[in-house]
Amino acid sequence: MQTATSAQSLNLAATLYTSAAVWQDERAQIFLRTWQFMGPSSAVAHVGQYLTLDIAGFGVFAIRGKDGVLRGFKNICRHRGARLLNGAGDCGLIVCPYHKWSFADTGRLVQAPWFGRDPAIIPEDWPLEPVHLAEWRGLLFAAVDPQTSLLDQLGDLPAELADEPLETYQATDQASVSFDANWKVYTDNFVEGYHIPGTHPSFYAAIDFESFETTAHTGFVRMTAPPKEGLFYRGKWLWMWPNWTLSLFDGGMNVSRIDPVSVDRTDQHYTFFFADTSEAAAPARARSVNGTLAVVREDYEVCVSTHRNYQAGGYSPGPLSGRHEKGVLYFQSRVAAALGL
Ligand code: FES
Ligand SMILES: [Fe+2]
Repeated sequence: MQTATSAQSLNLAATLYTSAAVWQDERAQIFLRTWQFMGPSSAVAHVGQYLTLDIAGFGVFAIRGKDGVLRGFKNICRHRGARLLNGAGDCGLIVCPYHKWSFADTGRLVQAPWFGRDPAIIPEDWPLEPVHLAEWRGLLFAAVDPQTSLLDQLGDLPAELADEPLETYQATDQASVSFDANWKVYTDNFVEGYHIPGTHPSFYAAIDFESFETTAHTGFVRMTAPPKEGLFYRGKWLWMWPNWTLSLFDGGMNVSRIDPVSVDRTDQHYTFFFADTSEAAAPARARSVNGTLAVVREDYEVCVSTHRNYQAGGYSPGPLSGRHEKGVLYFQSRVAAALGL
């Protein structure tokens, strides 16, 4: 005898994508409490190398000290709060551009020039404030106020990628893109393949869509589809809580971080990794990089128009497909739990 099916799962309410108060809550409850993908560990392999990261507007950086230790700090000067470093690079001393206070790579205040002695400043009172760093298989992560270890956050991902030779891949290319939609609109899009026929006609033609599978696991969502001959993707796409992705190529991968700049604007930062970094393989690498960016440009378009509809107030939540939108349900459940909804 057939029993009644369980209650229909619905998409999130539109206001959760458009409310500035919700976005502030997400910053506090999700982004500042979780491990955030920073970049390849190789970017800070040498003494003096630093790498900055914006976590929903909250600046942090990692720097390799003269003692070989990698440390993380808020990218915030202890004087009047200026941003200390930008992008990535090399430095001996961390010098604030505003009034030239300088800090050692251990965070200690070295000098506060022209400050005066009335009262004199005690350097020990004003070190840079630390943040947490952790590495996993050549990838560097930072966290402001983590509630779990990085490995706990990754959940079942280490087992999923145990056989992938991630360490043999080198970071060769980077790309950043911005679009006018809430970060969850884009994440909803990333964690399902349901939109591929409608949104990505060329991509659709290059995979066996009938065999597309989406499964939710502790800490991540996995999507797989057998690629047809000639597709640059290997047919496995992963999304990890709360906001990073890893897609496999033949002999490489891209890793991206989805960063909410504001409630209605999102940046996505890509790092592309390849095993073969030779000149001869440059065209193949370019094909994977450009192919990835072409596919996601199609996603951004649909995300921007969807976000506009959420803003306009005419949308009430529709049903999620059990066949294709398990990833959406997993992501949205984690958001709801983090926000106490
Ligand atoms: S804010 Fe950095 S030296 Fe003044
Ligand atoms: Fe897509």
